[in-house]
Amino acid sequence: MSNLETEYHSNDFDWEELKERIEDDPTLAYHFDPFTPQSSSPSSLDSQSWNQFHARHSTGKFFKERRYLFKEFPELVSCGEYSKVLEVGCGNGSTALPILRCKENILVFACDCSTEALDRATEIIYASNVASARSRFRPFCWDFSTCRFPKWLICDSCYETSLQKPNSEGDSTDITSLKKSECCIGGMDFVTLIFTLSAVPLHRMSIAVAECFSVLKPGGLLFFRDYGLYDMTMLRFDADQRVGFREYKRSDGTRSYFFSLDIARELFLSVGFIEVELEYCCVKSVNRRKQKTMHRVWIHGKFQKPM
Ligand SMILES: C[S@@+](CC[C@H](N)C(=O)[O-])C[C@H]1O[C@@H](n2cnc3c(N)ncnc32)[C@H](O)[C@@H]1O
Repeated sequence: MSNLETEYHSNDFDWEELKERIEDDPTLAYHFDPFTPQSSSPSSLDSQSWNQFHARHSTGKFFKERRYLFKEFPELVSCGEYSKVLEVGCGNGSTALPILRCKENILVFACDCSTEALDRATEIIYASNVASARSRFRPFCWDFSTCRFPKWLICDSCYETSLQKPNSEGDSTDITSLKKSECCIGGMDFVTLIFTLSAVPLHRMSIAVAECFSVLKPGGLLFFRDYGLYDMTMLRFDADQRVGFREYKRSDGTRSYFFSLDIARELFLSVGFIEVELEYCCVKSVNRRKQKTMHRVWIHGKFQKPM
């Protein structure tokens, strides 16, 4: 067993006990007040905020590969050759890079609403020592909460058409340089939604999840990991940062929602997914310098598109 595996833990405390403690604390009561949403901001503003966020955090220091992915989602390792993954909201590539690294022939399509994020991810992945990362990493700019995913992710006939279209140099286009078995044959084997859905306004989440469902092959899996209700970072938001019930806006304009199991279940099952796994992941960590214990809550989900 590697060090990373021995260090991995996800059940350090009981979520119900944490809930009780937090709901009994009068200083935190404002988090549970009912909330009447005001008019929502245009989606272009959300993308702008994320662009600025990625421009500010452009150094490699901010980049951290999510190695726990394979412990939580071992299907990414056991899958067949030329499996296709869509990483939605890829940021600087913290999820895309380990997936490309773990499997020699896996293809990773990666979208983000921020062009800055895509530039960072591309730089980091191209600079990595991962074999054929350039041809297996396929970034594209997309807001999946307002636009339908491009047809070429899912449609056989779009693929056939693209085969017939040489580019200006007379070569085949990028996408046609792959064998048919490697791309566009009726959808994705996997969709990863890792700390992305929480950034989408609650009223657009259902459409966004339905889009993810639409690009999966029958039997395909969606891997979900995000902020869970009563995570330490939720409790740090001030009352004036609330923009909805369990929904907050940071001072830089980016948003964060905190999921309960019930809300996550409702979002995924209402668009047609089958629940395979759904639970809170509760991790206690200690900041030795500040002598503080931090209670982190994440939500872990695995959902399947019916056969
Ligand atoms: C916290 S980062 C997560 C990045 C990555 N999934 C990872 O594992 O590190 C969230 C990303 O979602 C992107 N994002 C936010 N809203 C989006 C939307 N509506 N469509 C596409 N990407 C979005 C942001 O630009 C940001 O890069």
